[in-house]
Amino acid sequence: MKGRFITFEGGEGAGKSTQIQRLKERLSKLGLSIVVTREPGGSPGAEKIRTMLLSGDAKDLGPRGEAMLFAAARADHVDSTIEPALVRGEWVLCDRFADSTRVYQGEAGVDPAYLDLLETAAVAGMRPDLTILIDIPADVGLARVKTRSETVSTGGPDRFEIDDVGVHERRRALFLDLARREPARFAVIDGRQDTEAVEKAIWAAVQNHFAELGTNDRGSDETVGENVGAQAHGQSA
Ligand SMILES: Nc1ncnc2c1ncn2[C@@H]1O[C@H](COP(=O)(O)OP(=O)(O)OP(=O)(O)O)[C@@H](O)[C@H]1O
Ligand SMILES: [Mg+2]
Repeated sequence: MKGRFITFEGGEGAGKSTQIQRLKERLSKLGLSIVVTREPGGSPGAEKIRTMLLSGDAKDLGPRGEAMLFAAARADHVDSTIEPALVRGEWVLCDRFADSTRVYQGEAGVDPAYLDLLETAAVAGMRPDLTILIDIPADVGLARVKTRSETVSTGGPDRFEIDDVGVHERRRALFLDLARREPARFAVIDGRQDTEAVEKAIWAAVQNHFAELGTNDRGSDETVGENVGAQAHGQSA
């Protein structure tokens, strides 16, 4: 696999979508090809399942059935979007991935062993190289979502956003547990900082993880950036 696969995880309103765009800009300046995608969804088939999952239409299936639908969507997303991009040598930035299922459906009571089986089947070996966990207290994230809904038309809260704050806090703790179990894959970022500080912390983590990007802030240096881009593609050719 030639490309690089970075996932963003964290609770509602943590800043995932905001920071994916900022990382995309930084990596693009280095001459790298970037694919931004999201879960549930990220491919035409999976987007249909997203609508069912987030509207709450699939809630009657129960947490185990919902977990299977997430896995079905993920399988199509991996096959149709993620793997082809990685084969082309692109950098895939994915807004939520398998860790969200472990956390959300795990918190809802699905046996972790079932979740492991579903994950193995769904991801077909496509594991993230790096996972950025933006950690934020549940009440802070939910307040941001509320403010966002007052300014941007989002169609109202989704099936998972409406859960009470205690559920959101348990999800936060589960995300942090995952990060502790796989410290080499995760970078935990304090999401309470302002947007620029979060962006810088994420960039430092990305540079630290991928040696080909170097350790200095070269995002504005076009000449070096082009070389880094060529090197990244060349390495994987
Ligand atoms: N560091 C920050 N400080 C304050 N506000 C922020 C910060 N980062 C993002 N926001 C704002 O908070 C809201 C939520 O951010 P964003 O949509 O990026 O979060 P998200 O993690 O993608 O949320 P969701 O889980 O709903 O997809 C947006 O209105 C965004 O502009
Ligand atoms: Mg988002």
